[in-house]
Amino acid sequence: MIVLGIETSCDETAASVVEDHAEPGRRIRADVVLSQLDEHAPHGGVVPEIAARAHLQHLDGLVARAMRDSGIGFDQLDAVAATGGPGLIGGVIVGVMTAKAIAAAVGKPFLAINHLEAHALTARMTDDLPFPYLLLLVSGGHCQLVAVDGVGTYRRYGTTVDDAVGEAFDKVAKLIGLPYPGGPAIERAAVTGDPARFAFPRPMKGRPGCDFSFSGLKTAVRHAVAALPEKLSERDRDDVAASFQRAVAEVLADRPRRAMTRFTDEHGAPTALVVAGGVAANRQLRAVLTATAEREGFRFTAPPPALCTDNAAMIAWAGIERLRLGLTDRLDFAPRPRWPLEEMRGA
Ligand code: KG4
Ligand code: ZN
Repeated sequence: MIVLGIETSCDETAASVVEDHAEPGRRIRADVVLSQLDEHAPHGGVVPEIAARAHLQHLDGLVARAMRDSGIGFDQLDAVAATGGPGLIGGVIVGVMTAKAIAAAVGKPFLAINHLEAHALTARMTDDLPFPYLLLLVSGGHCQLVAVDGVGTYRRYGTTVDDAVGEAFDKVAKLIGLPYPGGPAIERAAVTGDPARFAFPRPMKGRPGCDFSFSGLKTAVRHAVAALPEKLSERDRDDVAASFQRAVAEVLADRPRRAMTRFTDEHGAPTALVVAGGVAANRQLRAVLTATAEREGFRFTAPPPALCTDNAAMIAWAGIERLRLGLTDRLDFAPRPRWPLEEMRGA
């Protein structure tokens, strides 16, 4: 099977061709991503209107490049997949319209992919992971713990009641004058900072259930910065970054641990903990999660960083998984800005 995937739900315009055959095997034949970082950076976050225009301007060229890189023709594709939601509606419309047009022109099935499902299934492409497993999705827009029982079969154990964890990184970075996106900038500053200088809260830690909360932590950072006697020095900034990152790490050790206990109760045995989404690129958080998973008897798996952040290979792969089960979509599919995983259609 060979599927073309398109991703346009946030600030990355991406196209990819993924192949999965018994012979010559599975491979990403092409994977191109155009980040709109420079266009959004001056605004300190993603501006939906700018994103939609940029997708419109660049997507056709990126699809052409991905097809060229893949070395195959449109007629050799088995299907065309695009993110159908959740995400910024303008961008999703651009991707879905493009995929539908190609599918109709070459007479191949169209697949509308749930962006969260694509993150959830990536570890099956990279690590051949069997179902079921526990997913921790940590990105700019999401923070969820989900039992992944099969394609289209997801049970959410917990989610954030306010901000997503990546969003907390971005907002705290802005508070201390670090650039957007905040995650990598905070991780860099934290290396030289003192994680014990500020006693920030660990929201939800020790509470029953698997939900998260990050807005109180962000507020605590704002108060701490405002209470500094002098203007924020470089030293202060690094210490805030390190203290904040440690608080997040403790929360990310606690909530997944509870989810693993529940997963083991419900499934009879531990399997694997998969972490996906942009925040999964953070080394300290990965180390904490690895140790926690091992203590609970779970194998820890994280796709390589380039496949953790938004990309189109994960969309093409989810397309392959759904196509195998005959779960194709009609050309009148309507983009879904909101699309919870529990509302997925399974096999
Ligand atoms: O999955 P993603 O690329 O986009 C979506 O939100 O869907 O995730 C982007 C988020 C941003 O909030 C960014 O600050 C965060 O992931 N991020 C990180 C790191 N790299 C990216 N957060 C913490 N540490 C990092 N190294
Ligand atoms: Zn994402």
